[in-house]
Amino acid sequence: MKTATNKKETTTKSKATAKATTKTGVTKPKSDAASGLTELFEDGLKDIYWAEKALTKALPKMAKNATSPELIDALNSHLTETEGQISRLEQVFELAGQKAVAKKCDAMAGLIEEGNGILEETEIGVVRDAGIIAACQKIEHYEIATYGTLRQFAETLGMEEAASLLEQTLEEEKAADKALTIVAVNAVNFEAAEAD
Ligand SMILES: [Fe+2]
Ligand SMILES: [Fe+2]
Repeated sequence: MKTATNKKETTTKSKATAKATTKTGVTKPKSDAASGLTELFEDGLKDIYWAEKALTKALPKMAKNATSPELIDALNSHLTETEGQISRLEQVFELAGQKAVAKKCDAMAGLIEEGNGILEETEIGVVRDAGIIAACQKIEHYEIATYGTLRQFAETLGMEEAASLLEQTLEEEKAADKALTIVAVNAVNFEAAEAD
């Protein structure tokens, strides 16, 4: 009986895969697939707009679960920056002649989910603090990669003002990542190791 169910699942899955790919394994595009760099740029903006909005909810949760005053400060000040980054993205949408629309970013949803998992898997205190830093640095690195790409797209598309706005956010994300490293090195990781 179990074998029959598994077989059915495999058949359904392979049918779905066959639908999305050609014989050579190349994915078939959806009907609304991006046909140029402008559309790819706009799709990227929608993704990161969703991600930043999600972070305005995730960062306070992380701060509430942190105990190191240095970590709480770093998270709160990055929350304020994140709100500014959302306004900056709205300006970029305007410069691109687009309405600011958020589209679910699966990667950020996954990173936030992983952060929530770390909270559940750690005792409150320095060990949870170390886990929060790890989760947040993964998020910052995702943002650094995203803003680096979007700034480059904007430059290629000749959108200098948009490129400069995205560059400002990119620098904030890099600084947030560095600030977290400093908190980890100076205030958290050594104590967390001592808790072993
Ligand atoms: Fe951000
Ligand atoms: Fe960030």
